[in-house]
Amino acid sequence: MSIYRKIKLGTFESLMALLFSLRERHPHIPMHPFVISEDVKRALAIDATGVILGISRRLSDRIMIDRLSTGLIQHKELFYLNEKPLPCVIESDYKLNDNWLTAENNYPLYFNLYKILVSRMDKVRMFEIGVRTGYQGVVCAKACKNMSSAFYMGVDPNLYVDKGLMLAGETLNVMRTLFRNFDFALIEGYSWERNIQKSFFYSGPFDIIHIDGDHSLQGKLIDLELARHLVAPEGLILVDDYDHHPVIKEAVKKSIAMGWFSEFIYIPTLRGLAILQ
Ligand SMILES: C[S@@+](CC[C@H](N)C(=O)[O-])C[C@H]1O[C@@H](n2cnc3c(N)ncnc32)[C@H](O)[C@@H]1O
Repeated sequence: MSIYRKIKLGTFESLMALLFSLRERHPHIPMHPFVISEDVKRALAIDATGVILGISRRLSDRIMIDRLSTGLIQHKELFYLNEKPLPCVIESDYKLNDNWLTAENNYPLYFNLYKILVSRMDKVRMFEIGVRTGYQGVVCAKACKNMSSAFYMGVDPNLYVDKGLMLAGETLNVMRTLFRNFDFALIEGYSWERNIQKSFFYSGPFDIIHIDGDHSLQGKLIDLELARHLVAPEGLILVDDYDHHPVIKEAVKKSIAMGWFSEFIYIPTLRGLAILQ
């Protein structure tokens, strides 16, 4: 091999080694370009301040809004097994100031909601953007235990909790053992990554989509626009933290002004939940 080729090869190898070591040290930095669709650009530009979010009668009947808060269970019934916490329960979650983990109007209310939503279905496919350590996956598995099959798929770049997806995987494996009808898939990455989005489309459509990832206006619009293409014909889109971050109400209004969704209902969970169809 000529000296010139040896130098070229050596440089190439050093660059690749540098790339791989950077990737290993910063796995949350995506490798794919960030592209915003024309629809999301239009939604960012649209003025939706005048949009009135009227409560949908059809959704409120379907969700049985009056029965949602009846017989709420305790968080331990969801997240403990034989008096021991599931891997998704991390000690520091008990110290969050709004009792987010233990509040009855958070996960127990979601549990009732999912039970009602799936009560007339035989099979369900759920998709979650923003998994963290997998609490919602547990709620889904338990609410769907009497169905013939329940599938949960989640995506998360592990931004909030280091090894969050690993804990989610351990937790959902326990669910898979407990409930033979339950299965799941976890994807590490950002919901806006184009190659990752393809995996959602290969696996969809989904009956329930829970959006709880990026809480910026642009991030929320990207997820809403994605969700409208991934949702099954009678499926619903749940948007978390509606009262918690002002941009979420703004994003929901913009999505309605864009015609992505036509029906809206608000559920008074701890941090507020919007449901769209
Ligand atoms: C509020 S936590 C999710 C909580 C979870 N849904 C639950 O109920 O237990 C938000 C999560 O979104 C993730 N996240 C942030 N940006 C994201 C994106 N673009 N795509 C997917 N997940 C994202 C973070 O890593 C974090 O784990």
